Amino acid sequence: MWSILYNTLLFLSPLTPSSLHTLSSHHPERYHGPDTDGGAWSEAYGKAKEVVGQMTVEEKVNLTTAVTGQCQANSGGVPRLGIPGLCFNDGPAGPRYTDFVTQWPSEFTAAASFDRDLIEQRAERIGKEFRGKGINVELGPVTGGPLGRSPYAGRNWEAFTPDPYLSSTLSFLTVRGMQSSGLITCAKHYILYEQEPVCDGPLDDEGGRTGCRDVSSEVDDKTMKELYLPSFAETVRAGTGSIMCSYNRINGTAACESNDALNRILKDELGFKGFVLSDFGATHSTVPSALGGMDMELPGERYYGKNLLKAVHKGDISESKLDDMVHRILTPWYAAKQDTDYPKINYQKYDLSDKVDINGHTFRNEHVNVKGNNALFARKVAAESTVLLKNSGILPMKGIRRIGVFGKDADYPSTLSGCGPDLFCLVGSRRRYWNGTVTIGGGSGAAYADYIAAPIEAITLKARQHGIRVDHVLQDDEAYYGSMGWIAYQSEVCIVFVSVFLVEGWDREHLRLDKKGEDLIRHVESHCAGEVVVVLHSGGQVVVEDWIDLPKIGAVLFAGYPGQETGNALVDILWGDVNPSAKLPFTMGKSAEDWPKDNIIRKMGKGSYPLSKFSEGLAIDYKWFDKHNITPRYEFGYGLSYTSFEMSALVIEEDYGKDRDTIQKTNERYEGEKDLYDNLYMAKVNVTNIGKVSGAAVAQLYMTFPEDENDQPPKHLRGYAKKFLEVGQMSTVEFSLRKKDISVWDVDRQLWRIPRGTFTFRVGNSSRSLPLSVELKISSLH
Ligand SMILES: *[C@@H]1O[C@H](CO)[C@@H](O)[C@H](O)[C@H]1NC(C)=O
Ligand SMILES: *[C@@H]1O[C@H](CO)[C@@H](O)[C@H](O)[C@H]1NC(C)=O
Ligand SMILES: *[C@@H]1O[C@H](CO)[C@@H](O)[C@H](O)[C@H]1NC(C)=O
Ligand SMILES: *[C@@H]1O[C@H](CO)[C@@H](O)[C@H](O)[C@H]1NC(C)=O
Ligand SMILES: *[C@@H]1O[C@H](CO)[C@@H](O)[C@H](O)[C@H]1NC(C)=O
Repeated sequence: MWSILYNTLLFLSPLTPSSLHTLSSHHPERYHGPDTDGGAWSEAYGKAKEVVGQMTVEEKVNLTTAVTGQCQANSGGVPRLGIPGLCFNDGPAGPRYTDFVTQWPSEFTAAASFDRDLIEQRAERIGKEFRGKGINVELGPVTGGPLGRSPYAGRNWEAFTPDPYLSSTLSFLTVRGMQSSGLITCAKHYILYEQEPVCDGPLDDEGGRTGCRDVSSEVDDKTMKELYLPSFAETVRAGTGSIMCSYNRINGTAACESNDALNRILKDELGFKGFVLSDFGATHSTVPSALGGMDMELPGERYYGKNLLKAVHKGDISESKLDDMVHRILTPWYAAKQDTDYPKINYQKYDLSDKVDINGHTFRNEHVNVKGNNALFARKVAAESTVLLKNSGILPMKGIRRIGVFGKDADYPSTLSGCGPDLFCLVGSRRRYWNGTVTIGGGSGAAYADYIAAPIEAITLKARQHGIRVDHVLQDDEAYYGSMGWIAYQSEVCIVFVSVFLVEGWDREHLRLDKKGEDLIRHVESHCAGEVVVVLHSGGQVVVEDWIDLPKIGAVLFAGYPGQETGNALVDILWGDVNPSAKLPFTMGKSAEDWPKDNIIRKMGKGSYPLSKFSEGLAIDYKWFDKHNITPRYEFGYGLSYTSFEMSALVIEEDYGKDRDTIQKTNERYEGEKDLYDNLYMAKVNVTNIGKVSGAAVAQLYMTFPEDENDQPPKHLRGYAKKFLEVGQMSTVEFSLRKKDISVWDVDRQLWRIPRGTFTFRVGNSSRSLPLSVELKISSLH
């Protein structure tokens, strides 16, 4: 969400046509939507029902509405019955707006670890930090809005990956891990939110955008069910207490009042039992929103509160509908046991001082330290998520005596609050970039850092231990090229730091580096006495063709947005204390033309809102490259190691296993007897470390549907497993295939079904290096 934009730039859409509808244009029955029964939270639902039974209409409305408070957003409570309002706070990379917390590697960075255990532990630790501050609901994780349809989207770094299988597994584990401490998660941004609004007004005084319109996403049913919905389905299964509706429109209707998206798909087909809250400023109406399925308006009272009360009194919204909204809000709160055992709110979001006075309230920050030993774990996550893209053998560094370090991106941010304490840099007329090393993007996905272990700090400390000389020019500007050349000319290894800083609200205009990073790399390369190591801190794909094949480019590391432990994690990789094992969770093309044209809408168009047709259907990211036979620079799943692995003996066998992971059952329809989330088959492969150092392999399983499914892209990731192996060690890796993993969405019959015919499964170390294959013939129903 855009709290800053919302607060300061007023990035609000005008009234939408649907908000102007009179009630008579809606069919009340159709718009009621399913009532929650709590599902697995039936006991909690019972408690919610009982307490709601004692509430007045005003009190019920209060629970659905924002009030002024000390958190980023606060909902009303019912003091008379001992029900407190809830405290909401961003975001997926750690608690934003406060101190004594950890700035974690962003989701998109952590996804590159391809490590399920690591991701779940990361989530558990983040969840405990939120809990420790007394936050009831974390506004995260980002689980598929955006998913990553376009490399230009300014917010892809907030989410995991454009691959729906990888995103689904990580979404499930992240919600389960975060909620294990009693925190309530909010999966966001639901749904089809794959780009920022289109803005055609002049920039305002602060460099902000004006004349903005939300884009309407038009997606066919099959693509919705097979590509954009699965990660949200996994968060429902994992029991997420809340879901945030997004800024965009869906088939012309605002997502936060979309009966199709909220009532029909989320609450009915997925059987979601918790509540839907609005992204900040994404509410455009009272009656259509409430009837469409939005249960709570944040972060201020605009359409709910008094307006909702009026609509209930008038009979435009039934009291039973209001009851369901309130049941949905209180049920997860009871289910998480926040009524009996939860820390009090002990921070205030306005600044980092001890107290602020707002509207007659005094809010305090007790500076509670919730970090524990998370710095060490965050360092591990960052190192495990650093992708080695190229290596001549220069890495790990051995016997090196003189290092040169180049680029502002190696430096400390000019203050800890480089772009304001919120890390929110405007990139408009005043083009304020993050001024120092990039550890996270800007906007709601940002998280505060208590410190940043800058690359120059970590490299210098390490070098000192080894008696290595370090020279540096921590600048990007051509004015410094002279001294850079001089230093490069005397360095055995030249480490160049370059970046792409992305900010919510701003889609990318190109896929190049910020601040002419390409020129910096080429300049250092032309002068370096030895070899160049390039470190990329970017929140998305970068076109590297200008420089990647230059003769002295020895190694390239894609470090993503690694969070506060950036330098320490990097040093672990450079010196080989950690053997790189991360894989790209997206495709790096050779040129911008490799991706479908216009998959970001940049013009208003002829209608009253910009329209984006997702005409590529299922074929995004590697599936697009595969389908159109485009050779990428680095494919999805690619990443080097300091050792090498051999895979052998791929088999697939029937291996039925009842689903034991589901926390809340979905309501998805399917053909056959076995549950959609039961395991049906198991693939196995032997992996051996045949190199000279220990390290972790990521075995990847890709599936091709039977020929008759001719609308399917050539292959789909359907399994991955990370295994640490000593030199010479062999291990058998297993991939469970659930019924859903081998099913397609049948649009005519509106259910999941397993196609009959011959499936092909391939295993290897990337989406384009799959030496082993096995076929599986399915002729009967499961
Ligand atoms: C609404 O919620 C606020 C915050 O919890 C509370 O102060 C106020 O009394 C509530 N109003 C009612 C009618 O309960
Ligand atoms: C949007 O419209 C398309 C085309 O009519 C349809 O296939 C799809 O199901 C609609 N999406 C939603 C969420 O209703
Ligand atoms: C960035 O840091 C340099 C000092 O290294 C300073 O001169 C410059 O003004 C800073 N820029 C911004 C936008 O803060
Ligand atoms: C992947 O495996 C192939 C053999 O199938 C091997 O040639 C290649 O070096 C491996 N690549 C990586 C990145 O490990
Ligand atoms: C694969 O590993 C298993 C043990 O994990 C072993 O029994 C089997 O013989 C191995 N197969 C091959 C071909 O190495």
